[in-house]
Amino acid sequence: MIKVSAPGKLMLFGEHAVVHGRPCIVTAVDARIRVFLKKREDNKIFLNIPDLNLRDFLLIEDLDKPFKKEMKFVLTAIKNFFEKYQIKSGLEIETKSEFSMEFGLGSSSAVTVAIIKGLSELFGIKITKRELFDLAYKTVLDIQGVGSGFDLAAAIYGGALYFVTAGKTIKKIKVKDIPLIVGYTGIKADTATLVKMVNRKLKESPRKINKIFNEIEKIVHLAKIEIEKANWRRVGELMNLNQNRLRELGVSSKKLENLIAIALDSGAYGAKLSGAGGGDCMIAIANRKNRKSVEKAIEKKEGKIIKVRIPAEGVKIE
Ligand code: MEV
Repeated sequence: MIKVSAPGKLMLFGEHAVVHGRPCIVTAVDARIRVFLKKREDNKIFLNIPDLNLRDFLLIEDLDKPFKKEMKFVLTAIKNFFEKYQIKSGLEIETKSEFSMEFGLGSSSAVTVAIIKGLSELFGIKITKRELFDLAYKTVLDIQGVGSGFDLAAAIYGGALYFVTAGKTIKKIKVKDIPLIVGYTGIKADTATLVKMVNRKLKESPRKINKIFNEIEKIVHLAKIEIEKANWRRVGELMNLNQNRLRELGVSSKKLENLIAIALDSGAYGAKLSGAGGGDCMIAIANRKNRKSVEKAIEKKEGKIIKVRIPAEGVKIE
């Protein structure tokens, strides 16, 4: 049996703009998805996903039919891998997650990456990180039609990354530890809908929206420098500037704004939404002295503090 794990992610700077050719900064977080894979001698593919209460099987031929929503990432990854490497085999697959799929920490991207990495190990096919990224990115686009692929890069390379749309640039950022506080809004964000809404706005008002994207790009470049210097006060200020631009894009929400405001009031250097907006998580940065009070304040406003170590290692065979 092959056992693989891949980390979740948090977007630090540059969401939405990164869908449109700009860079972002993402970090892998040490909340991992584990995948167990085994070959079968027959033509059945068994799936066991306890987090979703899902136990099911299909035939290899069924890979050409539409999949149930909760199995899409696993099965599309298998289908694309089999097609690319001309393989047909029965399989047993089990996935286990250390974090809820609701948080927006990238469970779909982590599972996609872990499945492809696991299959390559299972069938003795050497694939580079780049090939893994390209196949995983194809898988995500086959399913969602939109997305920059930043979450896949975090799951593959690990650490903190400077990433440009579709993996045109993927560069490690030198940082040991980022003192982030992560607050979950309790609301699951609908990434594809928000990305499409921003696409629509870009079509309607290209000058205005491109100006916002260009400003976000500048913030990302400055943030990269300040993260490498571990200048958290300045990183916090840049988070606030990034949040202003996201607000202008119209992707923030009342709950996100409440958690961000209370984090700033209780001593955080900066705070912003992380990811598509509309829900999922907000992040704040604070010095060690203020950390507890920021966390408590977020909890008081009914945000759930998610403890994660940042950054984390990329996909690995265990
Ligand atoms: C969603 O977590 C982040 C977005 O930038 C989409 C993407 O980059 O794929 C909104």
